[in-house]
Amino acid sequence: MRMVDIITRKRDGYELTPQEIRFFIDGYVNGTIPDYQASAFTMAVYFRDMTDREIAALTLAMVHSGETVDLSGIQGIKVDKHSTGGVGDKTTLVLAPLVASVGVPVAKMTGRGLGFTGGTIDKLESIPGFHIELTPERFVELVNNNRIAVTGQSSALVPADKKLYALRDVTGSVESVPLIASSIMSKKIAAGADAIVLEVTMGNGAFMKDERGAARLAETMVHIGQHVGKKTAAVITDMSQPLGFAVGNALEVKEAIDTLKGRGPEDLKELVLTLGSLMVMLAGAASDADEARRRLRASLKNGRALEKFRSFIVNQGGDPDVIDHPELLPSAKYQIDLPARSSGRITAMHAKRIGLAAMQLGAGRAAKGDAIHYDAGIVLHKKIGDQVRKGDALLTIHTDTETIEEVKAGLYQAIEIGPESAEPPLIHRIITE
Ligand code: URA
Repeated sequence: MRMVDIITRKRDGYELTPQEIRFFIDGYVNGTIPDYQASAFTMAVYFRDMTDREIAALTLAMVHSGETVDLSGIQGIKVDKHSTGGVGDKTTLVLAPLVASVGVPVAKMTGRGLGFTGGTIDKLESIPGFHIELTPERFVELVNNNRIAVTGQSSALVPADKKLYALRDVTGSVESVPLIASSIMSKKIAAGADAIVLEVTMGNGAFMKDERGAARLAETMVHIGQHVGKKTAAVITDMSQPLGFAVGNALEVKEAIDTLKGRGPEDLKELVLTLGSLMVMLAGAASDADEARRRLRASLKNGRALEKFRSFIVNQGGDPDVIDHPELLPSAKYQIDLPARSSGRITAMHAKRIGLAAMQLGAGRAAKGDAIHYDAGIVLHKKIGDQVRKGDALLTIHTDTETIEEVKAGLYQAIEIGPESAEPPLIHRIITE
């Protein structure tokens, strides 16, 4: 087999065989296929697309490029959750203890943030003392005893994705459904869960800008799950504005705690109940979505979800007093309001620009390995559809430096005020098998 023939066949629109796809992935990972051929291949895929059979073969070839995690030591059906990314996305912080509190095991492997979207690890590490370094044995033990643990993703998982993603990032082939779907699903499958719930975000703060693209990505990932025998469901959610009000690590932890206390923002609560119901159903712990939702709501109300969050923090070395005393979380030196420059309604909010502004304040990383300011970020006071009067605070900037003119200018560009507006729906569609 020769790589040039595989590239040519894809360029001309033929369906590749699993053997050809495996040849590419194996060769690229072991270094016999160079970057220039891999980038020609990914660009051919970008333009020619892939069939479901090709996508399944690509995903499996990627899974087999590295180690896989064995979670069989954990009792019960393990359901993983993944989001294609958003701004202010603190969903996992609420969802994981909530689902665990109704008895469903949550064995979560997760990552750090890069660019305008934050990472769950960074958010958790803003809790003093919290650590995600767990041996595989300790991880299994914690989930068996307390139903919840979160750890970093092993670097030995899916090396093909690390190489391919870095290449796609600099060669203009990130936004390809078969490449995104295989990238995400290979990591989920290698991480060993029995079932997978996916959140596919759409809008200006997401990879997928419209519902058509988001639906194709969601359906493709659900098919891959089916193909490998893992129950999979996907929810298409709106990311045309940040989720909740807080953007930035410690600020998001505080909002997550408020939500676990039953006081959080409505959109976050609704999203968590929707994703949580699917997780509980796929785990076989409820017969239908209504029963699953009832159980989750009860757990939020009677404090069991909050108590699960407390024991989770304790088990991973964190200070549980942050729950009753959020002032123990890192807090920024300055809090600066951004006043509205006109009156009207919020017509649009550019989530990505808000995420980038938070990153400039130090809440996120421009490059891998950058240090993070856990206290920095933005708290919105208005969302799309809200009425504002000139001079009202649109948001508060949490910062350790007073010179933030560029950030303020970016934020003004991110928020549009006009005469009329409609609130976007949060959940666009749910896709199950
Ligand atoms: N997230 C991933 O993990 N992979 C992609 O290709 C895109 C988003």
